[in-house]
Amino acid sequence: MEILAFGVQADERPLIEKAFAPHHDIRCLDVFLSEDTAPIAAGYEIISTSVNASLDNRVLQTLAAGGTQMIAQRSTGFNNIDLQVAERLGLTVARVSYYSPYSVAEFAWTLATAVNRRIVRASNRTRDFDFRLDGLMGRDLRGRTAGVLGTGKIGEAFTRIAHGFGMKLLGWDVTQNPACVELGMTYVDVDDKERLFAESDLISLHVPLLPATRHLIDANALRAMKDDAILVNSSRGGLIDTDALVRELRAGRFTGVGLDVYEAEAGLFFLDKSLEAVEDDTLARLVTFPNVVVTSHQAYYTVDAVSQIIETTVQNVLDYQAGRRSENVLVPAAPAN
Ligand SMILES: NC(=O)c1ccc[n+]([C@@H]2O[C@H](COP(=O)([O-])OP(=O)(O)OC[C@H]3O[C@@H](n4cnc5c(N)ncnc54)[C@H](O)[C@@H]3O)[C@@H](O)[C@H]2O)c1
Repeated sequence: MEILAFGVQADERPLIEKAFAPHHDIRCLDVFLSEDTAPIAAGYEIISTSVNASLDNRVLQTLAAGGTQMIAQRSTGFNNIDLQVAERLGLTVARVSYYSPYSVAEFAWTLATAVNRRIVRASNRTRDFDFRLDGLMGRDLRGRTAGVLGTGKIGEAFTRIAHGFGMKLLGWDVTQNPACVELGMTYVDVDDKERLFAESDLISLHVPLLPATRHLIDANALRAMKDDAILVNSSRGGLIDTDALVRELRAGRFTGVGLDVYEAEAGLFFLDKSLEAVEDDTLARLVTFPNVVVTSHQAYYTVDAVSQIIETTVQNVLDYQAGRRSENVLVPAAPAN
C-alpha cells in the first residue's frame, strides 16, 4: 500500500522514507494539507499530516469522499483537526502523544536566553565589525523567578532547566506535577494566574491551545506582567493575543519576547515567503521590535524528536491496519468503560 505524507520538510524526508520502507511505500509532498491540496489525497486510504495542516470540515469532507480512512498526524498538538467532524465521517485520527519534550523545552530556553542576552543583535553587530556593547546588557537569571504555565511533559523539562539556572519556580496548571513540586515549584491558584504574571521575571507557556486557553495572554495578562519581564511562547500561537502584545511592545515594555509560534502562522510558517509582499501587518510589526525574536515553529525540530515522531507515526499506521487501539488514537473516541 502507498501512503501519502503532506508537509514533509527536506530534512525529514529521508527519515520518513527509511522508517516506512520495511512496511509501506510512501509518497512525500512538501505542500501542506489544505482545501487546495486535499484532492491530491483521492485514492489514498492512509495519509499523514503535519502540524500546520488544516483539517477543517471542508478538508475532512474532501478526504472522506476521496476514500481516505486514516489520518496519521505527525505532532502532539491536534488543535488543527476538527475531531467531531472526523468522528462523524468515520475516520481514524492518530497523533504522536509523546516525543522528546527536551526538544521543545531546550528551544524555549534558547529563545529566553537569546532575548535576555541580545544574541541576535550582538551577532548582527559583530558581522558588521561593530563591537560596541551599548544596548546589549542582559540580566542574571539566578535568583529571579520563572513562571511556567503548563507543567506537563514540556513544562517539567523547562522547569528542570530553570532549576539548573538557580531560579525560583512558580507554576500554573490544573493539576500539579509532583516532579516540579520536588524541584521546589510553588503553584499559584488556578484562578490566580495574575500572581504568576506579577511575580515572574521569565514567563514560559506550555499549555495546549484549547477554547479555555485561547488568548490566555490577553491585554489584562500582559498588563499584569513586570515591565522588564521575558515572555516565551513555544506552545501554540493562539495562546497570545498578538495585537495586544504589539501594543505593549510599542509602549516599550518587556526585556524580551521569544515566539516560536504565532496565531496566524498557518500559510506562512515552514514556507519561503521572502519574495512576496507581506500581507500580515501584525507579524510585520512584531519582527521590527529589537527585543523580539520570532522563529517559525521549529522548537520540536531536532533529529531526536523528529525520528521519534516518525517512528510513532509508522506504529500508528501499523496499529490501525491491525485493528489495535493505542493512546495515540484521537478518533474514534475510546469506548466508555
Ligand atoms: N513549538 C513546538 O514545536 C511544539 C512541539 C510540541 C508541543 N508543542 C506544544 O506544547 C504543548 C504542551 O505539550 P506537552 O507535551 O507538555 O503536553 P502535556 O499534555 O504533557 O502538558 C500540558 C499541561 O497543560 C495543562 N493544561 C491543560 N489544559 C489546561 C488549562 N485549561 N489550564 C491550565 N493547565 C492546563 C495540563 O494539565 C498539562 O499539565 C502542546 O499542547 C503543544 O501545543 C509545541
